[in-house]
Amino acid sequence: MQAKIVTLPGDGIGPEVTAAAVRVLEQVGTRHGHRFTFQEALMGGCAIDASGNPLPDETIAACEQADAVLLGAVGGPKWSDPTAAVRPEQGLLRLRSHFDLFANLRPVKAYPALAEYAPLRAELLDGVDILFVRELTSGIYFGPRAEQGEGDRAHDTMLYTVEQVERIARVAFEAARKRRGKVASVDKANVLASMRLWRRTVSAVAADYPDVELEHVLVDACAMYLLRNPAHFDVVLAGNMFGDILSDETSVLAGSLGMLPSASVGRGTFGVYEPIHGSAPDIAGKGIANPTAAILSAAMLLRHSLGLESEARTVEQAVEATLAEGARTADIAADPASALGTDAFTERVLAHLA
Ligand code: NAD
Ligand code: IPM
Ligand code: MN
Repeated sequence: MQAKIVTLPGDGIGPEVTAAAVRVLEQVGTRHGHRFTFQEALMGGCAIDASGNPLPDETIAACEQADAVLLGAVGGPKWSDPTAAVRPEQGLLRLRSHFDLFANLRPVKAYPALAEYAPLRAELLDGVDILFVRELTSGIYFGPRAEQGEGDRAHDTMLYTVEQVERIARVAFEAARKRRGKVASVDKANVLASMRLWRRTVSAVAADYPDVELEHVLVDACAMYLLRNPAHFDVVLAGNMFGDILSDETSVLAGSLGMLPSASVGRGTFGVYEPIHGSAPDIAGKGIANPTAAILSAAMLLRHSLGLESEARTVEQAVEATLAEGARTADIAADPASALGTDAFTERVLAHLA
């Protein structure tokens, strides 16, 4: 098949890990006879530096012509002055919103090969396989901003409509049907009105899925259960901010933030594929970032946007085999001093793909 992929490497380690994922996609294309073309565009801090705009019109236009977008990460200390009016992260939010990518899928697996290194006891990790379904284009990130204010007062508004909750809940229930048939819906219904609407709407949608088991979990307790009994969870459905926070927390189960991929999708097959991690300013430019999250995001791109399930599995199996033979980047190594850099680790994945 032919496919056009736009890459938005962004800032910090974004370009380093995106380059690794592109190498993997190129090799998949060559081996399986697909013609993937890549076009790079600016988003985030690098786009602010070039044009003052974190999401230039040319970038949106390029994405509109693409089958899928592979994104690195945006942001960093250079653009993090709290008084700055223009921020790299605004570009990312606008991109998600422009393409109505309301569902952010974040799979979390514990890899047996990494169990001895993980901060949690190995027996807790047995059978951990969670899918976060995070609402991505509403909630407190996109609440009414008209009088947001500066100076001595500021506020953000958590707003959800029934329609916004219904559509993301359906994504979670449909996913649960193809998995272990359980949805844990996360909210703060004991305090927030928007979260009471969330809870009653999810319950109403559940009536259409009698074969799926639904539980409601308050977000604070959920943060604890996810570490105390992670194997209990199948699909975790959460709003924009709670899903962001809980998925970073849960990355500890996979060994590192550098392990977790994501797919941001809407109604059609188009999607933006991005590691859940950020630009990691503390390690940027050193060539030591873990490219696994970006490579697994490329696998999600193959599956969701291009319909190439078996190629996606090949990439995931290559990553598993690479970890199983002991290859480690510094963030998942017992001895970071003898760990592989980004490129050396990627070579090992490519060798398993060959
Ligand atoms: P971060 O995710 O960038 O880093 C947190 C920690 O995880 C750091 O110690 C980092 O070194 C480590 N880490 C992250 N990815 C790694 C990888 N692939 N390999 C090895 N270690 C890795 O979070 P932060 O430092 O809080 O944020 C930095 C910037 O990134 C901020 O400007 C933030 O807004 C932005 N951010 C962007 C995205 C995105 O573009 N999707 C996501 C999250 C954060
Ligand atoms: C993520 C990031 C973003 C978010 C920021 C950078 C806007 O943390 O993709 O997880 O909060 O969604
Ligand atoms: Mn995040």
